[in-house]
Amino acid sequence: MSVTLLPLENTMSYPQAATIITSLRHALPYINAHRNRTFVVALSGETVQDNQFPHLIHDLALLGSLGVRLVLVHGARPQIEERLRARGLEMCYQHGLRVTDTQALACVLEATGSVRAQIEGLFSLGLANSPMAGARIRVTSGNFVIARPLGVRHGIDYQHTGEVRRIDTEALRRHLNGQDIVLLSPIGYSPTGEVFNVSAEEIAMAAAAELSADKLIILVDDPGLLDSEGHFVPRLTLEKAEAWLRQPGTIPTHLTKQVAGAVYALRHGVDRVHLVSRHTDGALLLELFTRDGSGTLIDQGAYDDLRSATIEDVGGILALIAPLEEQGILVRRSRERLETEVGQFVVAERDGTVIGCAAFLPFPEERVGELACLAVHPEYRNQRRGDLLLTYIESLAKAQSIQRLFVLTTHTAHWFQERGFEPATVDVLPVARKTLYNWQRNSKVFVKNLS
Ligand SMILES: CC(C)(COP(=O)(O)OP(=O)(O)OC[C@H]1O[C@@H](n2cnc3c(N)ncnc32)[C@H](O)[C@@H]1OP(=O)(O)O)[C@@H](O)C(=O)NCCC(=O)NCCS
Repeated sequence: MSVTLLPLENTMSYPQAATIITSLRHALPYINAHRNRTFVVALSGETVQDNQFPHLIHDLALLGSLGVRLVLVHGARPQIEERLRARGLEMCYQHGLRVTDTQALACVLEATGSVRAQIEGLFSLGLANSPMAGARIRVTSGNFVIARPLGVRHGIDYQHTGEVRRIDTEALRRHLNGQDIVLLSPIGYSPTGEVFNVSAEEIAMAAAAELSADKLIILVDDPGLLDSEGHFVPRLTLEKAEAWLRQPGTIPTHLTKQVAGAVYALRHGVDRVHLVSRHTDGALLLELFTRDGSGTLIDQGAYDDLRSATIEDVGGILALIAPLEEQGILVRRSRERLETEVGQFVVAERDGTVIGCAAFLPFPEERVGELACLAVHPEYRNQRRGDLLLTYIESLAKAQSIQRLFVLTTHTAHWFQERGFEPATVDVLPVARKTLYNWQRNSKVFVKNLS
């Protein structure tokens, strides 16, 4: 059957149109996965001040239109400080906590009111030529945060600084069910009728935990989390995040609070926490609608430790792959062969046992690499470990400037196709690999473009 491409009426080139179509198609599984999920998004006062902020609002509106239940928590630190400065005052901090006196509280109320109105205004935009044309978005705010005074600590009276006592989740759920976007300000209300200045991070954490949110998303200054050497960390387990927090200097100081918040949220029922750049236009959408994401994902740690294999892992790898070799799913590897190739393996380890493995064999001259011997122990399947091993191998390949990753498979074609691999012929294999191709086994070849 021949397919005719319709003229595009000069609006865009075919490559442009093809890119849009491909992106939309790739986003579809994520669109389905995110529908009816609850995301709590923490927007610092700096984020609100950013030039990019209207774009971020458009992206949040898009999430809302796709059925994501959104709770936004805004900060207002720079806006409060600006007002204090205008009155010749300064925010006072003691032991890292803000002291809110009566004058500071007046500035807090003024600043949070103004930021809230600014956000509500941006969500109201519906002009015909704007990205939000036709959207009718309702933003709800209210006395949803129940607070209590921080009180006197170390002899210091924190006055109108409060902490979260609880979140009125029943009210939040009612509004979310009605498809409103809920907007929380960094203030809380006590049953005595007082108003307190509460940290936005604390409110975001508490709201995410009490709602058992699917995601807590924190917009940060960096591309995500950086380690002590300044390297970007795409993914971190809860366990590792806790270990890093215990070792001073492992996490940059300005991100410690966010990682501690992530740990709290994950320990209290939130599925995943994402740290996403507030400076990169579209970073939020990339994080949520692409496989590789854009920021750092911190999750429950069902994913064990992925690491390069050592000679000590040979026994564990053999035990894992032997039954699959029996079934003809994997090619047989002798212990001797594995001992020489073990440096090319990555293993997933849990409690000292190898429960997953994969090998990466690069052919640097042709800029291609092979993914081989991917296996997850049957008891640990369907928890995205296979996915994680693949992502890990892809990052190894990218780091070595490999442009295409190929795999030979007899039983698992669809698994690879669903992850961006496309059917290919033996001809695409590098020469050295082609000569080793086993025609009797007749494996199918799949290739994924990494560039
Ligand atoms: C393929 C394999 C590594 C996936 O590991 P995993 O940790 O379960 O992977 P994930 O959790 O990321 O993916 C699970 C999904 O893959 C699907 N899947 C598993 N095996 C599949 C196969 N052979 N073909 C197509 N889809 C498959 C599961 O049904 C599940 O999809 P669902 O959530 O829509 O039901 C694992 O099933 C395995 O070890 N299989 C045997 C070895 C093998 O085939 N290796 C590939 C050698 S080329």
